[in-house]
Amino acid sequence: MRKLAIVNGPNTNFFGIRNKAQYGSVTYDSMMADAVAYGAERGFAVEPFQANGEGRIIDHLQELYREAEAADTVIPLVINPGAFTHYSLAIMDALESVRERVPAIEVHLSNVHKREEFRHVSYTARECVGQIAGFGADGYQLAIDAFKRMGY
Ligand code: DQA
Repeated sequence: MRKLAIVNGPNTNFFGIRNKAQYGSVTYDSMMADAVAYGAERGFAVEPFQANGEGRIIDHLQELYREAEAADTVIPLVINPGAFTHYSLAIMDALESVRERVPAIEVHLSNVHKREEFRHVSYTARECVGQIAGFGADGYQLAIDAFKRMGY
């Protein structure tokens, strides 16, 4: 099975606890378990990762690049950078650095474009294949479908 990475940013591990009106009551663990099962049915070994700190996310993206390079392959990535979406030039640069071997689709549970103006900007999406926002936890599965349709 082809590996497919998921990277989740700050506070995503509190999905199911935080702001349920916005993000629903499905817990982070169950969202990721569903994504792993959904991916497996489509031929992907899905490996979720979550960190609250920018540095750990960047380290993980670089490790994925090194892993893909060593195996001379490509590892598709689904990323929900949380609030880093809206201001992290460092994660944007990391996505740019790895994109040849780690192409990314950005996912947001909420439709960020319907929310506060500061959420309308995504620095990270500039370095992604595309963005899926507003479909709740299904967004992860839609991103897996998108990679499948792209031929991964
Ligand atoms: C989010 C949207 C971000 O604006 C917010 O900071 C999050 C969650 C989402 O999944 O809808 O942490 O990425």
